[in-house]
Amino acid sequence: MIDVFIKAQSYYLPKKVLTNEELIKEFPKWTVEKVSKKVGINSRHIADKNETVGDMAYQASEKLFSENNIDKSEIDFILLCTQTPDYFLPTTACTLQSRLGLSTSCGALDFNLGCSGYVYGLSLAKGLINGNMAKNVLLITSEAYSKHMHSKDKKNRTIFGDAATATIVSTTGNLKIGNFSFGTDGRGSENLIVKTGAFKFHDMMDFDENEAIEKDHFPNNLYMNGAEVFKFSMDTVPKLVKDTLEKNALSKDDIDQFIFHQANKFMLDTLKTISKISNEKFIYSIDDVGNTVSSTIPIALNRAIKENKVNKKDKVLLAGFGVGYSWAGCVLECQ
Ligand SMILES: CC(C)(COP(=O)(O)OP(=O)(O)OC[C@H]1O[C@@H](n2cnc3c(N)ncnc32)[C@H](O)[C@@H]1OP(=O)(O)O)[C@@H](O)C(=O)NCCC(=O)NCCS
Repeated sequence: MIDVFIKAQSYYLPKKVLTNEELIKEFPKWTVEKVSKKVGINSRHIADKNETVGDMAYQASEKLFSENNIDKSEIDFILLCTQTPDYFLPTTACTLQSRLGLSTSCGALDFNLGCSGYVYGLSLAKGLINGNMAKNVLLITSEAYSKHMHSKDKKNRTIFGDAATATIVSTTGNLKIGNFSFGTDGRGSENLIVKTGAFKFHDMMDFDENEAIEKDHFPNNLYMNGAEVFKFSMDTVPKLVKDTLEKNALSKDDIDQFIFHQANKFMLDTLKTISKISNEKFIYSIDDVGNTVSSTIPIALNRAIKENKVNKKDKVLLAGFGVGYSWAGCVLECQ
Protein backbone atom coordinates (compact mmCIF):
# COMPACT_ATOMS: atom_id res chain seq x y z
CA MET A 1 0.00 0.00 0.00
CA ILE A 2 1.35 3.42 -0.91
CA ASP A 3 0.48 6.59 0.98
CA VAL A 4 -2.35 8.61 -0.54
CA PHE A 5 -3.04 12.29 0.12
CA ILE A 6 -5.45 15.13 -0.39
CA LYS A 7 -3.30 17.37 -2.57
CA ALA A 8 -5.59 20.37 -3.09
CA GLN A 9 -9.15 21.42 -2.44
CA SER A 10 -11.58 24.20 -3.40
CA TYR A 11 -15.30 24.88 -3.20
CA TYR A 12 -17.94 26.83 -5.06
CA LEU A 13 -21.08 28.46 -3.69
CA PRO A 14 -23.85 29.67 -6.02
CA LYS A 15 -24.22 33.47 -6.19
CA LYS A 16 -27.79 33.58 -4.89
CA VAL A 17 -27.95 33.87 -1.09
CA LEU A 18 -31.20 33.11 0.70
CA THR A 19 -31.27 34.68 4.17
CA ASN A 20 -33.56 33.74 7.06
CA GLU A 21 -35.13 37.19 6.74
CA GLU A 22 -36.16 36.43 3.15
CA LEU A 23 -37.33 32.90 3.96
CA ILE A 24 -39.37 33.96 6.95
CA LYS A 25 -41.41 36.35 4.80
CA GLU A 26 -42.86 33.19 3.24
CA PHE A 27 -43.48 31.56 6.63
CA PRO A 28 -44.75 34.25 8.99
CA LYS A 29 -45.49 31.74 11.77
CA TRP A 30 -41.73 31.20 12.18
CA THR A 31 -39.15 33.85 13.16
CA VAL A 32 -35.60 34.53 12.04
CA GLU A 33 -34.42 33.84 15.62
CA LYS A 34 -36.25 30.51 15.81
CA VAL A 35 -34.46 29.19 12.72
CA SER A 36 -31.10 30.60 13.69
CA LYS A 37 -31.34 29.21 17.24
CA LYS A 38 -32.53 25.74 16.28
CA VAL A 39 -30.53 24.88 13.16
CA GLY A 40 -27.70 27.46 13.47
CA ILE A 41 -28.14 28.61 9.88
CA ASN A 42 -28.60 32.27 8.98
CA SER A 43 -28.25 32.01 5.22
CA ARG A 44 -27.64 29.47 2.50
CA HIS A 45 -26.66 29.60 -1.18
CA ILE A 46 -29.19 28.41 -3.73
CA ALA A 47 -28.43 27.36 -7.31
CA ASP A 48 -30.03 29.50 -9.97
CA LYS A 49 -33.00 27.97 -11.82
CA ASN A 50 -30.76 27.25 -14.80
CA GLU A 51 -27.68 26.35 -12.78
CA THR A 52 -27.13 22.60 -12.51
CA VAL A 53 -24.95 20.32 -10.43
CA GLY A 54 -22.75 19.96 -13.53
CA ASP A 55 -22.35 23.75 -13.70
CA MET A 56 -21.46 23.96 -10.02
CA ALA A 57 -19.04 21.03 -10.31
CA TYR A 58 -17.41 22.78 -13.29
CA GLN A 59 -16.99 26.02 -11.31
CA ALA A 60 -15.53 24.23 -8.27
CA SER A 61 -13.09 22.28 -10.46
CA GLU A 62 -11.91 25.31 -12.46
CA LYS A 63 -11.40 27.16 -9.17
CA LEU A 64 -9.38 24.21 -7.87
CA PHE A 65 -7.18 24.19 -10.99
CA SER A 66 -6.51 27.92 -10.98
CA GLU A 67 -6.04 28.33 -7.21
CA ASN A 68 -3.58 25.45 -7.02
CA ASN A 69 -1.80 25.49 -10.41
CA ILE A 70 -3.04 22.00 -11.18
CA ASP A 71 -1.97 20.52 -14.50
CA LYS A 72 -5.30 19.24 -15.89
CA SER A 73 -3.56 16.71 -18.11
CA GLU A 74 -2.43 14.79 -15.02
CA ILE A 75 -5.98 13.97 -13.91
CA ASP A 76 -6.77 10.39 -14.80
CA PHE A 77 -10.06 9.77 -12.94
CA ILE A 78 -13.18 11.79 -12.09
CA LEU A 79 -15.45 10.72 -9.24
CA LEU A 80 -18.58 12.83 -8.85
CA CYS A 81 -20.85 12.45 -5.85
CA THR A 82 -24.38 13.75 -6.39
CA GLN A 83 -28.06 12.97 -5.89
CA THR A 84 -29.24 15.73 -8.23
CA PRO A 85 -27.45 14.87 -11.49
CA ASP A 86 -27.96 16.83 -14.69
CA TYR A 87 -29.48 13.78 -16.40
CA PHE A 88 -30.52 10.21 -15.62
CA LEU A 89 -27.95 9.40 -18.25
CA PRO A 90 -25.19 10.06 -19.14
CA THR A 91 -23.39 10.57 -15.86
CA THR A 92 -22.51 14.16 -15.06
CA ALA A 93 -18.88 13.03 -14.58
CA CYS A 94 -18.68 12.10 -18.28
CA THR A 95 -19.96 15.50 -19.35
CA LEU A 96 -17.41 17.17 -17.07
CA GLN A 97 -14.51 15.34 -18.69
CA SER A 98 -15.10 17.29 -21.89
CA ARG A 99 -16.28 20.55 -20.29
CA LEU A 100 -13.13 20.68 -18.16
CA GLY A 101 -10.91 19.69 -21.09
CA LEU A 102 -9.57 16.59 -19.35
CA SER A 103 -7.84 13.74 -21.10
CA THR A 104 -9.99 11.13 -22.85
CA SER A 105 -7.84 8.56 -20.99
CA CYS A 106 -9.68 9.66 -17.84
CA GLY A 107 -12.01 7.26 -16.05
CA ALA A 108 -15.23 8.96 -14.94
CA LEU A 109 -18.26 7.97 -12.91
CA ASP A 110 -20.99 9.41 -10.70
CA PHE A 111 -21.86 7.85 -7.38
CA ASN A 112 -25.13 8.45 -5.59
CA LEU A 113 -24.59 9.20 -1.92
CA GLY A 114 -25.56 12.07 0.34
CA CYS A 115 -24.01 13.14 3.60
CA SER A 116 -21.51 10.24 3.76
CA GLY A 117 -20.43 10.89 0.15
CA TYR A 118 -17.17 12.79 0.64
CA VAL A 119 -15.66 10.16 2.93
CA TYR A 120 -16.77 7.38 0.57
CA GLY A 121 -15.26 9.38 -2.30
CA LEU A 122 -11.92 9.60 -0.51
CA SER A 123 -11.97 5.84 -0.01
CA LEU A 124 -12.77 5.16 -3.68
CA ALA A 125 -10.01 7.53 -4.80
CA LYS A 126 -7.52 5.96 -2.39
CA GLY A 127 -8.51 2.49 -3.63
CA LEU A 128 -8.01 3.48 -7.28
CA ILE A 129 -4.56 4.85 -6.51
CA ASN A 130 -3.55 1.91 -4.33
CA GLY A 131 -4.75 -0.48 -7.01
CA ASN A 132 -2.51 1.32 -9.53
CA MET A 133 -5.57 2.29 -11.60
CA ALA A 134 -5.13 6.06 -11.23
CA LYS A 135 -2.57 8.60 -10.04
CA ASN A 136 -4.52 11.84 -9.70
CA VAL A 137 -8.21 11.57 -8.94
CA LEU A 138 -10.53 14.57 -9.20
CA LEU A 139 -13.14 13.98 -6.48
CA ILE A 140 -16.16 16.27 -6.82
CA THR A 141 -19.16 16.68 -4.55
CA SER A 142 -21.96 18.73 -6.08
CA GLU A 143 -25.45 18.93 -4.68
CA ALA A 144 -28.50 21.09 -5.27
CA TYR A 145 -31.16 19.76 -2.89
CA SER A 146 -33.02 23.04 -3.45
CA LYS A 147 -34.20 21.47 -6.70
CA HIS A 148 -35.83 18.67 -4.66
CA MET A 149 -37.54 21.07 -2.28
CA HIS A 150 -41.18 22.11 -2.31
CA SER A 151 -41.52 25.88 -1.91
CA LYS A 152 -43.83 25.36 1.11
CA ASP A 153 -41.45 23.00 2.89
CA LYS A 154 -40.08 25.29 5.60
CA LYS A 155 -38.50 22.49 7.66
CA ASN A 156 -36.16 21.51 4.84
CA ARG A 157 -35.73 24.87 3.12
CA THR A 158 -34.29 26.30 6.34
CA ILE A 159 -31.73 23.50 6.62
CA PHE A 160 -30.33 22.72 3.17
CA GLY A 161 -28.08 24.80 0.91
CA ASP A 162 -26.44 24.14 -2.47
CA ALA A 163 -22.68 23.86 -3.08
CA ALA A 164 -19.94 22.01 -4.92
CA THR A 165 -16.41 21.05 -3.90
CA ALA A 166 -13.41 19.69 -5.81
CA THR A 167 -10.48 17.75 -4.35
CA ILE A 168 -7.39 16.24 -5.92
CA VAL A 169 -6.44 12.92 -4.35
CA SER A 170 -2.90 11.94 -5.26
CA THR A 171 0.37 10.27 -4.23
CA THR A 172 1.65 13.59 -2.85
CA GLY A 173 0.00 16.26 -0.72
CA ASN A 174 -0.37 17.70 2.76
CA LEU A 175 -3.21 15.59 4.16
CA LYS A 176 -2.48 11.86 4.38
CA ILE A 177 -5.61 9.74 4.12
CA GLY A 178 -5.76 7.05 6.83
CA ASN A 179 -8.06 4.06 7.32
CA PHE A 180 -11.82 4.00 6.90
CA SER A 181 -14.93 2.76 8.71
CA PHE A 182 -18.13 2.22 6.71
CA GLY A 183 -21.74 1.38 7.48
CA THR A 184 -25.16 1.03 5.88
CA ASP A 185 -28.68 0.39 7.13
CA GLY A 186 -31.21 0.43 4.30
CA ARG A 187 -34.08 0.10 6.80
CA GLY A 188 -33.79 3.88 7.16
CA SER A 189 -34.17 4.57 3.45
CA GLU A 190 -37.80 5.76 3.78
CA ASN A 191 -36.86 8.47 6.29
CA LEU A 192 -34.86 10.61 3.89
CA ILE A 193 -36.02 10.05 0.36
CA VAL A 194 -37.04 11.51 -2.96
CA LYS A 195 -39.60 8.86 -3.75
CA THR A 196 -41.05 9.93 -7.07
CA GLY A 197 -39.48 11.08 -10.28
CA ALA A 198 -37.66 7.80 -10.93
CA PHE A 199 -39.30 4.50 -11.85
CA LYS A 200 -40.84 2.94 -8.75
CA PHE A 201 -43.55 5.52 -8.06
CA HIS A 202 -45.21 7.67 -10.67
CA ASP A 203 -48.09 9.36 -8.83
CA MET A 204 -48.03 13.08 -8.47
CA MET A 205 -49.70 14.72 -5.50
CA ASP A 206 -50.64 18.23 -4.48
CA PHE A 207 -48.75 19.67 -1.58
CA ASP A 208 -50.55 19.80 1.75
CA GLU A 209 -48.29 21.02 4.50
CA ASN A 210 -50.07 19.22 7.31
CA GLU A 211 -51.16 16.04 5.63
CA ALA A 212 -49.52 14.79 2.53
CA ILE A 213 -45.91 15.58 3.25
CA GLU A 214 -45.92 13.36 6.29
CA LYS A 215 -47.56 10.49 4.48
CA ASP A 216 -46.68 10.78 0.86
CA HIS A 217 -44.30 12.28 -1.54
CA PHE A 218 -44.35 14.76 -4.38
CA PRO A 219 -42.81 14.71 -7.80
CA ASN A 220 -39.06 14.84 -7.18
CA ASN A 221 -39.63 16.24 -3.73
CA LEU A 222 -37.50 15.56 -0.71
CA TYR A 223 -39.15 13.96 2.30
CA MET A 224 -37.31 13.91 5.60
CA ASN A 225 -38.50 12.45 8.87
CA GLY A 226 -36.25 14.72 10.95
CA ALA A 227 -36.90 12.98 14.26
CA GLU A 228 -35.98 9.54 12.86
CA VAL A 229 -32.86 10.83 11.11
CA PHE A 230 -31.90 12.50 14.37
CA LYS A 231 -32.36 9.25 16.32
CA PHE A 232 -30.32 7.30 13.77
CA SER A 233 -27.47 9.84 13.99
CA MET A 234 -27.40 9.74 17.80
CA ASP A 235 -27.17 5.98 17.73
CA THR A 236 -24.69 5.63 14.87
CA VAL A 237 -22.20 8.50 15.01
CA PRO A 238 -20.61 7.75 18.42
CA LYS A 239 -20.08 4.14 17.24
CA LEU A 240 -18.68 5.42 13.94
CA VAL A 241 -16.18 7.61 15.80
CA LYS A 242 -15.13 4.68 17.98
CA ASP A 243 -14.70 2.33 15.02
CA THR A 244 -12.80 4.93 12.97
CA LEU A 245 -10.40 5.48 15.88
CA GLU A 246 -9.90 1.72 16.25
CA LYS A 247 -9.26 1.27 12.53
CA ASN A 248 -6.52 3.90 12.80
CA ALA A 249 -5.13 2.60 16.13
CA LEU A 250 -5.80 5.98 17.73
CA SER A 251 -7.59 7.20 20.84
CA LYS A 252 -9.94 10.15 21.01
CA ASP A 253 -7.20 12.26 22.62
CA ASP A 254 -4.99 11.76 19.56
CA ILE A 255 -7.48 13.65 17.39
CA ASP A 256 -6.96 17.41 17.07
CA GLN A 257 -10.18 18.24 15.20
CA PHE A 258 -13.43 16.41 14.59
CA ILE A 259 -15.23 17.38 11.38
CA PHE A 260 -18.70 15.87 11.34
CA HIS A 261 -21.21 16.21 8.55
CA GLN A 262 -22.74 19.64 9.15
CA ALA A 263 -26.38 18.49 9.37
CA ASN A 264 -27.64 21.35 11.54
CA LYS A 265 -26.60 23.00 14.82
CA PHE A 266 -29.12 21.13 16.98
CA MET A 267 -27.76 17.83 15.70
CA LEU A 268 -24.08 18.89 15.96
CA ASP A 269 -24.50 20.24 19.52
CA THR A 270 -26.12 17.00 20.66
CA LEU A 271 -23.55 14.77 18.91
CA LYS A 272 -20.70 16.81 20.39
CA THR A 273 -22.14 16.36 23.88
CA ILE A 274 -22.84 12.63 23.67
CA SER A 275 -19.49 11.97 21.97
CA LYS A 276 -17.79 13.98 24.75
CA ILE A 277 -15.79 16.21 22.38
CA SER A 278 -14.57 19.61 23.58
CA ASN A 279 -15.56 22.86 21.82
CA GLU A 280 -11.97 23.54 20.72
CA LYS A 281 -11.82 20.24 18.84
CA PHE A 282 -15.20 20.42 17.15
CA ILE A 283 -15.72 22.28 13.88
CA TYR A 284 -18.90 24.19 13.02
CA SER A 285 -19.18 25.51 9.48
CA ILE A 286 -22.87 25.89 8.81
CA ASP A 287 -24.00 29.42 9.68
CA ASP A 288 -23.65 30.90 6.15
CA VAL A 289 -23.99 27.78 3.97
CA GLY A 290 -26.42 25.43 5.70
CA ASN A 291 -26.40 21.67 5.20
CA THR A 292 -24.80 21.23 1.77
CA VAL A 293 -25.06 17.40 1.95
CA SER A 294 -21.86 15.76 0.58
CA SER A 295 -20.12 19.14 0.45
CA THR A 296 -20.33 19.98 4.18
CA ILE A 297 -17.18 18.08 5.21
CA PRO A 298 -14.87 19.36 2.43
CA ILE A 299 -16.09 22.94 2.94
CA ALA A 300 -15.54 22.70 6.71
CA LEU A 301 -12.10 21.13 6.15
CA ASN A 302 -11.08 23.81 3.66
CA ARG A 303 -12.13 26.59 6.03
CA ALA A 304 -10.54 24.94 9.09
CA ILE A 305 -7.19 24.82 7.26
CA LYS A 306 -7.46 28.44 6.10
CA GLU A 307 -8.38 29.54 9.63
CA ASN A 308 -5.38 27.62 11.07
CA LYS A 309 -7.65 25.35 13.09
CA VAL A 310 -5.86 22.45 11.40
CA ASN A 311 -2.06 22.68 11.45
CA LYS A 312 0.99 20.54 10.67
CA LYS A 313 1.01 17.14 12.42
CA ASP A 314 -2.66 17.44 13.35
CA LYS A 315 -5.01 14.51 13.02
CA VAL A 316 -8.54 15.20 11.82
CA LEU A 317 -11.41 12.75 12.11
CA LEU A 318 -14.07 13.03 9.40
CA ALA A 319 -17.53 11.53 9.97
CA GLY A 320 -20.25 11.53 7.31
CA PHE A 321 -23.73 10.13 7.95
CA GLY A 322 -27.27 10.42 6.64
CA VAL A 323 -29.42 9.41 3.66
CA GLY A 324 -29.39 5.67 2.99
CA TYR A 325 -28.88 5.31 5.89
CA SER A 326 -25.19 5.44 5.06
CA TRP A 327 -22.16 6.44 7.12
CA ALA A 328 -18.39 6.55 6.84
CA GLY A 329 -15.43 7.86 8.82
CA CYS A 330 -11.69 8.31 8.28
CA VAL A 331 -8.69 10.09 9.74
CA LEU A 332 -6.53 12.62 7.90
CA GLU A 333 -3.03 13.43 9.06
CA CYS A 334 -1.68 16.87 8.25
CA GLN A 335 1.97 16.63 7.04
C1 LIG B 1 -35.17 18.75 12.00
C2 LIG B 1 -34.86 18.87 13.50
C3 LIG B 1 -33.91 20.04 13.71
C4 LIG B 1 -36.16 19.13 14.21
O1 LIG B 1 -35.90 19.14 15.59
P1 LIG B 1 -36.92 18.44 16.62
O2 LIG B 1 -36.64 18.99 17.98
O3 LIG B 1 -36.85 16.96 16.38
O4 LIG B 1 -38.28 19.02 16.01
P2 LIG B 1 -39.75 18.95 16.51
O5 LIG B 1 -40.59 18.62 15.32
O6 LIG B 1 -39.90 18.12 17.76
O7 LIG B 1 -39.98 20.46 16.89
C5 LIG B 1 -39.33 21.10 17.97
C6 LIG B 1 -39.27 22.57 17.65
O8 LIG B 1 -38.26 22.80 16.64
C7 LIG B 1 -38.86 23.52 15.58
N1 LIG B 1 -38.23 23.18 14.32
C8 LIG B 1 -38.32 22.03 13.62
N2 LIG B 1 -37.61 22.13 12.50
C9 LIG B 1 -37.05 23.36 12.50
C10 LIG B 1 -36.24 24.07 11.57
N3 LIG B 1 -35.82 23.53 10.43
N4 LIG B 1 -35.88 25.34 11.89
C11 LIG B 1 -36.31 25.90 13.04
N5 LIG B 1 -37.08 25.29 13.94
C12 LIG B 1 -37.46 24.03 13.66
C13 LIG B 1 -40.33 23.14 15.61
O9 LIG B 1 -41.11 24.11 14.95
C14 LIG B 1 -40.59 23.11 17.11
O10 LIG B 1 -40.73 24.44 17.58
P3 LIG B 1 -41.78 24.81 18.75
O11 LIG B 1 -41.24 24.11 19.97
O12 LIG B 1 -41.67 26.29 18.81
O13 LIG B 1 -43.09 24.28 18.30
C15 LIG B 1 -34.24 17.53 14.08
O14 LIG B 1 -35.20 16.51 14.05
C16 LIG B 1 -33.03 17.12 13.35
O15 LIG B 1 -31.96 17.66 13.55
N6 LIG B 1 -33.17 16.09 12.49
C17 LIG B 1 -32.13 15.69 11.60
C18 LIG B 1 -32.36 16.40 10.33
C19 LIG B 1 -31.13 16.66 9.53
O16 LIG B 1 -30.34 17.53 9.81
N7 LIG B 1 -30.96 15.89 8.50
C20 LIG B 1 -29.92 16.12 7.58
C21 LIG B 1 -29.43 14.90 6.97
S1 LIG B 1 -28.30 14.05 8.05
